[in-house]
Amino acid sequence: MDKGIGSDRNYWEKQMWGGIAPGADAVRYRASPMSAFLSSHTRTHSSGALRASDTGKHVVLTGWVQSYRDHGGCVFIDLRDREGVTQLVFDPEFDKAAHEIAGSLRNEWCVGVTGEVRARGSKVNEKMSTGDVEVWVKGIEVFSKAETPPFAIADDVDTNDTLRLKYRYLDLRRPKLQKNLIMRSKIAMTTRDYLSSNGFLEIETPFMVKYTPGGARNFLVPSRLNPGSFYALAESPQIFKQLLMVAGYERYFQIVRCFRDEDLRNERQPEFTQIDIEMSFVNEAILQSMMEGLISTLWRDVLGIELTLPLRRMTYAEAMDKYGVDKPDLRCDLTLCDVTAPSGKSGFKIFEGVVASGGIVKCLRVPGPAEKLSRSMLDGLTDFAKSFGVKGVAFARVQEGGVWQAPFAKSFSDEARNEVNRIAGAVPGDTLIFVAEKYKVANTAMGGIRLHIGEKLGLIRKNEWQFMWLVDPPLFEVDEATKDIAAAHHPFTSPRTEDEHLLETEPEKVLARAYDLVLNGVEVGGGSIRIHKSELQARAFKALRISEEDQRAKFGFLLDAFKYGPPPHGGIAFGLDRLSMLMTGAEFMRDVIAFPKTQKGSDLMTECPTPVSKKQLEELFIQVRPDLPVK
Ligand code: AMO
Repeated sequence: MDKGIGSDRNYWEKQMWGGIAPGADAVRYRASPMSAFLSSHTRTHSSGALRASDTGKHVVLTGWVQSYRDHGGCVFIDLRDREGVTQLVFDPEFDKAAHEIAGSLRNEWCVGVTGEVRARGSKVNEKMSTGDVEVWVKGIEVFSKAETPPFAIADDVDTNDTLRLKYRYLDLRRPKLQKNLIMRSKIAMTTRDYLSSNGFLEIETPFMVKYTPGGARNFLVPSRLNPGSFYALAESPQIFKQLLMVAGYERYFQIVRCFRDEDLRNERQPEFTQIDIEMSFVNEAILQSMMEGLISTLWRDVLGIELTLPLRRMTYAEAMDKYGVDKPDLRCDLTLCDVTAPSGKSGFKIFEGVVASGGIVKCLRVPGPAEKLSRSMLDGLTDFAKSFGVKGVAFARVQEGGVWQAPFAKSFSDEARNEVNRIAGAVPGDTLIFVAEKYKVANTAMGGIRLHIGEKLGLIRKNEWQFMWLVDPPLFEVDEATKDIAAAHHPFTSPRTEDEHLLETEPEKVLARAYDLVLNGVEVGGGSIRIHKSELQARAFKALRISEEDQRAKFGFLLDAFKYGPPPHGGIAFGLDRLSMLMTGAEFMRDVIAFPKTQKGSDLMTECPTPVSKKQLEELFIQVRPDLPVK
């Protein structure tokens, strides 16, 4: 059952057409030389609106020809607009002139019709929301003809993606995409309503900003007026929203475009939209509960679903331990366990070697019966896991008495095996899957394997909304090989008070006052309580090995601002594209973005990016390497 706004008939009727009678609004259009039809008629209903109760009404509809059928005498047209499809009947005896025009109609022609709503009687079409009725046409105007489209405008037509993106405006006529964008608009509207009714001000911040290192790679914009200097396109309004808190605006939000020159995959676009939020005088509990209010309002008003609050919280440590990732998909009950201790003294040389060199051994118990996991499925797993940088995956089938059937079973001591079985909770019939690697690789690979197996065995419950706040993540990321240290979130994230004393001595152990909102394994939002005291900020910069000179050069304006009474504050940003993707049930992020970019960052419709002329480059004081094409 579709609960999207597109199906909320009364809502749209009121918003768009207000139930105006045919011709009643004619004066408004009389001045238009474009169409005789529009001078005397105003649309009364959308093509998804008519029901049995409308029988007998005279209506005016506009839209596109979805299909054409000539049933010997009568012509039947399915008329489509963004709200749905209505069957039109052209009967020569009802209206000869209209019937003659109908004979020439072709798919995707844009038309307006007037006519009478009649019940379909025994020919009701259960599959159409308007299937009880049809409109007997009395008048028609062809607004414009259409060439044969390069692909049929229907949801289940198998067309290659390149063609769809090249003719995006035709692809966007598909009912599925129209429903998605309608829902996305409702999400944005509901967000604005909720936030403004809770005292948040919508304030714009610059897109063209000072380049600051760290975080995502920026797109750069050359400044013609400042030869040799560049703006960065804002990867988020982070610094500006903090400055708005210093300026006393207390509650800010913005539905804002962000730009990141990242390697793209399904959940990422180079320009994407955030619901960006910042609040003064808050701690984690106040901020998260305000955000839970937003999320539950969205689910109620857009999807008609009541969520149970408060949402679950899970520490980063628990997420890594049980799920191998910082965004666990809790729709799958499989969990990981750490069997490093028994594996390190098991007698099995490969595991012992990894443990001796500081690595870990992670195990996934897949409940029996063992036949569910075929040999070929297990073999395929090794190739799958290699994409995470893992050298190999080991399997053991648990048999009666806890004995293992595995190539390495003989090398594994009974004592170690019993201990692994105990930790994993293994019983006969189960399959145990192991990866022995460095901490990060082992966890990431096992996190991937868990979902891969879950998907293959149908263990991911597709009809659930599993939210969780991920809390207490590390403040810094330390590169295992180089020992380089970087901010895990951004350098203004506050450490937990109880960890501040570790900043100078063991920064890798400091946990952050940061949180992510995770939904069904996707990070839909992330934020933190910020540092608002200069002394603490200086210590954080020092831990990040950013010199005082660099601090001034990069963030001088922020450090200056923080000398003037900054309030305690914190914030969050939700990915509107990701939220829309999950709420609409879209498989791809591009299905909720009107004009998305491809994985290579290009727009196939406008064919961008393009080279520019030498003259343009000269104006910008830029030279392109001679071996690159310049038009
Ligand atoms: P962060 O970088 O976590 O935080 O971004 C917030 C949310 O934005 C979404 N997101 C993306 N969506 C689509 N394509 C992308 N390339 C992309 N990158 C991120 C995700 C993510 O959770 N300034 C901080 C927020 C804060 O601290 O208040 C920030 O930008 O859903």
